[in-house]
This record gives sequence, structure tokens and C-alpha cells, in this order.
Amino acid sequence: MSDMIQIKGLNKYFGDLHVLKDVNLNVKAGEKLVVIGPSGSGKSTLIRCVDFLEEPTSGEVIIDGTPLTKKNHLEMARKYSSMVFQQFNLYPNMTVLGNLTLAPIKLQKKSKEEANKIAMAALERVGLAAKAGEYPQNLSGGQQQRVAIARALCTKQPIILFDEPTSALDPEMVQEVLDVMVELAHENITMICVTHEMGFARQVADRVVFMDDGQILEEGTPDHFFENPENPRCREFLDKILH
Ligand SMILES: Nc1ncnc2c1ncn2[C@@H]1O[C@H](COP(=O)(O)OP(=O)(O)OP(=O)(O)O)[C@@H](O)[C@H]1O
Ligand SMILES: [Mg+2]
Repeated sequence: MSDMIQIKGLNKYFGDLHVLKDVNLNVKAGEKLVVIGPSGSGKSTLIRCVDFLEEPTSGEVIIDGTPLTKKNHLEMARKYSSMVFQQFNLYPNMTVLGNLTLAPIKLQKKSKEEANKIAMAALERVGLAAKAGEYPQNLSGGQQQRVAIARALCTKQPIILFDEPTSALDPEMVQEVLDVMVELAHENITMICVTHEMGFARQVADRVVFMDDGQILEEGTPDHFFENPENPRCREFLDKILH
């Protein structure tokens, strides 16, 4: 399989703070990658560089063979990638259907009728067709996050980036969101998920990478991480999140 995402010699500074340190990472088309690591290690910054929400200080991000640049990144993101955030980022003043059809209508120039059809199909998939006319504030956190995932599905980009999609949820709502993500994982979508839900990682990840202090210190299959992580900082981190 070909590489959908290539990250080459990526460095990111915020002022003097060196947040990503020469990161190299390739993700194949259709691959499900889970990123773990302590707070502040650069996980969000890394995936934000993949759709240029953060601009690399140096190095390259290449999507499907095309390097991201200041000039092409909006068009590239529109074509290739959507992001699901910890805080859902739904528009509070729009209904669920309004949130889902915004990008297809405004950015992808779909007719309202077609956008509605796509949105309803996406809502069916996350089990929320009945909520199309609701405003986000009337939904539970888990439902809002499922709407956010449905929104990512509507634009039909081949890459979905998840930034700790379940960590702002009440514990009883985590599973419904993970279930939707597991569903998606059966598809050919390329997924990068920052998550510490190791049950999910075990179920769907082709590969897990452990980041610390702006670097990838270990990578392997989920089994490798459960059974035999080598890096001492990775072991220590897993001990903390698994116990
Ligand atoms: N816009 C910004 N301006 C300045 N510093 C930033 C900015 N965004 C992130 N940082 C810093 O960069 C470092 C990496 O942040 P990042 O959010 O990528 O970490 P993370 O691994 O996602 O952490 P968490 O698990 O807490 O979400 C942190 O020290 C953070 O404070
Ligand atoms: Mg983060």
C-alpha cells in the first residue's frame, strides 16, 4: 500500500520552545495509527501539522504525494483531511443538520438537497438521525461527539485525525463514541487517533507510536506495547495509564 501521509524531518517551535524534534513518520493509505504519550509531548501539534492547522518550522508533510505548503494547504485539507477535536467544536447556533451540511455546501459546492442527503446518511451511521433538527446544546457530550464524527464523514475526505475524542466525555459516554470509531475503522479511511483508550488501540490500531518530549520514542503493534515495550519512559507511561 502507498503512503497517504509522509512526515519528514518535522520540527516545530513555539517561540523558543522546541515542540517537535525531527519527527519522521509514514502512514499508509487505510492505516489506523494510534498516538500515545504524556501531556505536552507534542501529540496535538503533530496531528495539527498534518492538516497545517500548525505550520511546521522546518521539514515536510506530504499528503498523497503532494507536499503541504502555505499556498495549497486549505485546498489540500479540504480534499484530504478532517479533524475531530476533544471539545467537539460544533457551531452552537446551528442545528445538527446545519453543522453537517456547512462544509459540503460552502466548501464543496454541493446543492442543499444533496448535502442534506449525505448528512442524513452520516447521522444514520452514528445512530443520530432522530437528532438532525436539534441544537448541539440539547445533546449529551457523547452525542455531540458522534455528530462531530458524522460531520467529518460528510466531507468524505480519506483522512480523519482524532485528537483525544473521548477525553472530555463523562465515562459512561466514552464507549458509544469508541463504538462509532471502531465502525469507521473497518473502512479504508486513514486514521490517526491521539487517544489513551488502549482497548480501542488493541481493537483497531495497525500501529501505535509513543511520543515523549517532541520525539517518537517507540512504535509497534498494539500487542508489542502491551507485552514488550522497550523504552523505559514508554513502560512507565503505560504503567500509569493501564493501572
Ligand atoms: N499555540 C501554541 N503556542 C505556544 N505553545 C504551544 C502552543 N500549542 C502547544 N504549545 C506547547 O507545545 C507543547 C506540546 O503541546 P501539544 O498540545 O502538542 O501536546 P500534547 O501531547 O497534545 O499534550 P496533551 O496530552 O496535554 O494534549 C506544550 O508544551 C504546549 O504548551
Ligand atoms: Mg493534545
